[in-house]
Amino acid sequence: MSVSIKTPEQIAKMRTAGRMAAEVLEMIGEYVVPGVTTEELDRRCYEHIVNVQKAVPACLGYRGFPKSICTSVNEVVCHGIPSDNKVLKKGDIINIDVTVIYDGWYGDTSKMYFVGKPAPHAERLVKITQECLYKAIEIVRPGTTLGDIGHVIQQHAENNYYSVVKDFCGHGIGDVFHEEPQILHYGKPGTGPALQEGMTFTIEPMINAGKAGTRVLKDGWTAVTVDRRLSAQWEHTMVVTKDGVEILTARTEESF
Ligand code: MF3
Ligand code: CO
Ligand code: CO
Repeated sequence: MSVSIKTPEQIAKMRTAGRMAAEVLEMIGEYVVPGVTTEELDRRCYEHIVNVQKAVPACLGYRGFPKSICTSVNEVVCHGIPSDNKVLKKGDIINIDVTVIYDGWYGDTSKMYFVGKPAPHAERLVKITQECLYKAIEIVRPGTTLGDIGHVIQQHAENNYYSVVKDFCGHGIGDVFHEEPQILHYGKPGTGPALQEGMTFTIEPMINAGKAGTRVLKDGWTAVTVDRRLSAQWEHTMVVTKDGVEILTARTEESF
């Protein structure tokens, strides 16, 4: 199988799904406060996706994942499972990752939230990680290579004395959750396949304050930093246009 190019009609459906996923992240923000459980955040997202949007939470049941969203707190790199036992406290940082299916098409996006006031080092990690995503988005256009994308992310992270997680990557997306190509968040300029108009994929850098290594807990999902230092992640779904990129999961607070 090779990389699929989407038609304008298919892109229109992904625009709808992407907007829905973004809207879930906008909706949930006010509930990310000290004392809330990640289970409650999951329940609110589930109810919004199913009852308000009439859409499908893609994570629920995906390869056995038991919840509708991923909630990754502090040293959790990705795929944190919402739980009654996980109560958010002041100073935590949390990534909420939402994927919605609407009319058979996927939108996948995540952002970081602060629980109360963050420590300066945590705020800085979250900001630099968002900049990694934005710097990658800035160079997306026909002809840019996957190595170019990985390189800008790796440069910005490492220039700031952080490390890029190598064990997880972005991905093509469409009427399938994860499809070709893999989008690595590190790489060398000018290497790898070139982007083409109509390609749809995510960029979702995971950046660690300490070393890059990760391990998966016994629940089979939760990926944590080996050194248990903080990790941050931001994700958008996008389509390559004639001369640039359209972010399908843009939030109203963002201007692309
Ligand atoms: N949304 C994640 C991604 O960005 C995938 C989560 S899979 C799950 O690709 F099963 F953990 F939900
Ligand atoms: Co993704
Ligand atoms: Co995601």
